[in-house]
Amino acid sequence: PLAPRCLLLAGSATGCVVLGLLGTAAHCQEATVPADPTVPPGVPEPAEPPFDWQLFWTFLRPQLLALSAAVMLALGAALLNVRIPVLLGQLVNVVAQCARGHIPTYLREVQRPALRLLAVYCLQGLLTFGYIALLARVGEQVAGNMRKALFTTLLRQDVAFFDATRTGQLVTRLTADIQEFKSSFKLAISQGLRSGTQTVGCFVSLYLLSPKLTGLLIVALPALVGAGAFIGAFLRSLSRQAQEQVAKATVVADEALGNVRTVRAFAMEEQQARLFCAEVDRSGQLSEQLGLGIAAFQGLSNLALNGIVLGTIFVGGSLMAGNELSPGDLMSFLVASQTVQRSLANISILMGQVVRGLSAGARVFELLTLEPLVPLRGGGFIPAHSLRGRICFHHVSFSYPTRPGYPVLQDFSLTLPPCQTVAIVGPSGGGKSTVAALLERFYEPTAGTITLDGQDIADLDPSWLRGQVIGFISQEPVLFATTIMENIRFGKPEASDAEVYEAARQANADGFIRSFPQGYDTVVGERGTALSGGQKQRIAIARALLKDPAVLILDEATSALDAQAERAVQEALDRAATGRTVLLIAHRLSTIRAANLIAVLARGRVAEAGTHEELLRRGGLYAKLIQQQ
Ligand SMILES: Nc1ncnc2c1ncn2[C@@H]1O[C@H](COP(=O)(O)OP(=O)(O)O)[C@@H](O)[C@H]1O
Ligand SMILES: [Mg+2]
Repeated sequence: PLAPRCLLLAGSATGCVVLGLLGTAAHCQEATVPADPTVPPGVPEPAEPPFDWQLFWTFLRPQLLALSAAVMLALGAALLNVRIPVLLGQLVNVVAQCARGHIPTYLREVQRPALRLLAVYCLQGLLTFGYIALLARVGEQVAGNMRKALFTTLLRQDVAFFDATRTGQLVTRLTADIQEFKSSFKLAISQGLRSGTQTVGCFVSLYLLSPKLTGLLIVALPALVGAGAFIGAFLRSLSRQAQEQVAKATVVADEALGNVRTVRAFAMEEQQARLFCAEVDRSGQLSEQLGLGIAAFQGLSNLALNGIVLGTIFVGGSLMAGNELSPGDLMSFLVASQTVQRSLANISILMGQVVRGLSAGARVFELLTLEPLVPLRGGGFIPAHSLRGRICFHHVSFSYPTRPGYPVLQDFSLTLPPCQTVAIVGPSGGGKSTVAALLERFYEPTAGTITLDGQDIADLDPSWLRGQVIGFISQEPVLFATTIMENIRFGKPEASDAEVYEAARQANADGFIRSFPQGYDTVVGERGTALSGGQKQRIAIARALLKDPAVLILDEATSALDAQAERAVQEALDRAATGRTVLLIAHRLSTIRAANLIAVLARGRVAEAGTHEELLRRGGLYAKLIQQQ
């Protein structure tokens, strides 16, 4: 009567392992989440940075208490797991004895080992709850702190950094990479600790139960696990290929759907559909191959595991016949060896996950240690009462860091006298916006200096310069997805409501804002109320005026507007310009001619300068530009 019962139990244990391996296979599929969706397939990724353990430690240290508690609990749960097969064996021994005819004493005999096992199960459940809860906390805290630190660091970076890096990639670092790192970290602690302890512990129990059977297992297991890991790696690479193929198909679809007007205009629907079909077919083939591989893997692993069970019972049975082993010992042995197999399988999955997590973490830490060339703060101020707003460009040369060999400005010199308007005109791409960017200190000149009231702006506090001295209004105003009130207040966070209203009045915006049902509380931005270009621009002007800047940069502020909107904006700009130094970049004659000085930018330097009349009389570049309008 024992044998069927024993087999039944062994069978259920096998079921567990198969489930575990199903997990493994599912993992193979999932293991391929492309590390970086912004990197097109086929482009080799740059060399991986090394993992910065020291930096990681600074994030881990505040969580040390919770982490140690989690580790202790996890260790406890693992040790109990090691105990369970032995207790189970003892129970089976009692049951087996009773089954041989001592039925009257069954309840009394079985009570103690059964209760002991139940207590261990309960304790193990409790410990498991404890360490998973604690680890979740530690993981979220570390990941959250990493996210915050990374975001702050990214925002501090030079503008040139953002020229060279795609924002999609940065967002991936901020979200997917940190997520991946967090899960690997949690898994390494929970699963790693558990599987490691269980493997070692169960081997010890196995050895104590039966050195002979253990010897047999030691021969069989590594070979099986090795083969499993090998096939697993093969499947993973197959699934990575499949994933990349899916990404290729997605690119085709994305491009065609996103540019449907162009596709339609060239009647390319069928050709695009053919292209997509081909990519989908290829990805289908790869996925089918992968499915085949997983199926074979599953089948083989089931066979192997059941083979081990069968072999153990076979050999164990002969040991039992020779009275070297009790039925309970055999039971313990089966369960413990299953635990070992499960743990080893877990460890092999874990390895891959940890490698991926470490490289995700390394990518994040690499960004975290980045220091901007121009810090946000630090440097001198000019007290408000002595600030005049005289700007001089002295022989400034500049090329963008992303295009080092291509000079945009060469020996550019220009003076903006206080409270006057200086216009820069020139062909598109001539470097006008670059002049404004240098004044904002978005970039550092390659040579030459820019001074404010005689002081090199490189010695002044950049935040003060941008936040309080310079107001910048560009062609495409950017509003944030919040209320108009908050959007204007962006210019000066501590401004009162009255100041905001006044700035809006100055910017010709108060009227239309109050005509909205929600007035200043109207939410704008991508999901909010759609504003016209002219309205957006006037809000942007109010935002710039709120900080009452001594210097105002207008970079083609009205060029995206229609004639009527332009009038309202121009009126606001004229009012805004009085009493300030204005750098006016424009291409419309109407806006330029009133400037105190007009500088024509050609080949990176000021080719000619003067008033509208002077330059017209001269009949040079400016005259030609005006003629073209
Ligand atoms: N962020 C940038 N990185 C690299 N090159 C740039 C960048 N911005 C502008 N350029 C290049 O610098 C030149 C001047 O650009 P810009 O100052 O915007 O001209 P403008 O405002 O006169 O039309 C152009 O050739 C442009 O391609
Ligand atoms: Mg420009």
